[in-house]
Amino acid sequence: MTVLPTIFSLLFATTATATIPSTLNITTITAHNDQSAIECWALDPGFTTTDQAGVSGTASISLGPVAGNVTNIIVPGAFDGGSHNAPALQWVIFLSGVAHVTLPHSDDEAWIVGGRNGAILALDTADVSVDGHITQYPTQESTVAVEVPLVQVPGHRVLHGGLVWRGRWGGKYSVLVLGGGL
Ligand SMILES: *[C@@H]1O[C@H](CO)[C@@H](O)[C@H](O)[C@H]1NC(C)=O
Ligand SMILES: *[C@@H]1O[C@H](CO)[C@@H](O)[C@H](O)[C@H]1NC(C)=O
Repeated sequence: MTVLPTIFSLLFATTATATIPSTLNITTITAHNDQSAIECWALDPGFTTTDQAGVSGTASISLGPVAGNVTNIIVPGAFDGGSHNAPALQWVIFLSGVAHVTLPHSDDEAWIVGGRNGAILALDTADVSVDGHITQYPTQESTVAVEVPLVQVPGHRVLHGGLVWRGRWGGKYSVLVLGGGL
C-alpha cells in the first residue's frame, strides 16, 4: 500500500510550502452616523510567527482581549433572526451554515458561509446604531456560531466599504461579497 506515504508526503508538502499571510481581512458590521454599515477591515497588527508549543513556527494573530462568556449558538435552518443590534462588541465565528446580513438603510449585504472565512466582527451596538442589522439563515442547514465578546474594537485598517470574500457556494459561482466599495 502506498496510500499512507502519499498522504504523508501531501501533508508535509502542504506544511512546507505554507506561507504566512500579512493579516486577516474581516467583514465587519460597524456603524456610521447612527446607522449600521458593512466594511472590510484588515486587522492591525497582522500575523507573526508564534513560538507557542505545539504550533511553533506557524502564523498567529491576536483577536483581542475577551470581555465575558464565550457562547456557542445553534440556529436551525430557515430561521429569521430579524432586526437587532450587536449585543456587545463581539466576534461571531460561523462554523457551519449560512447567515445573510442586510441593512435597513443601505443595499449592502453579506452572505457569510460557515468555515474558514466565517469570522466576522459585529460592532453595531445600540449606542452607535439606532436600527441595527437584519440576520436571516436561509438554508435548510443549521448554523453553528461562536460569539466572543470583546473588551474593545480590535486594531484595524479600513480597506473598503463592503465585504471581504468572494467564492463558490452551492455548486455555482455566487457573488457572496456585495457592497458599495466593490
Ligand atoms: C487582504 O486585503 C488586502 C487588500 O485588498 C490584500 O492585498 C490581501 O491579500 C488580503 N489578505 C488576505 C489574507 O486575503
Ligand atoms: C457568564 O455565565 C455565567 C453562567 O451563566 C453567569 O453566571 C455569569 O454572570 C456570566 N458572566 C458574564 C460576564 O456575563
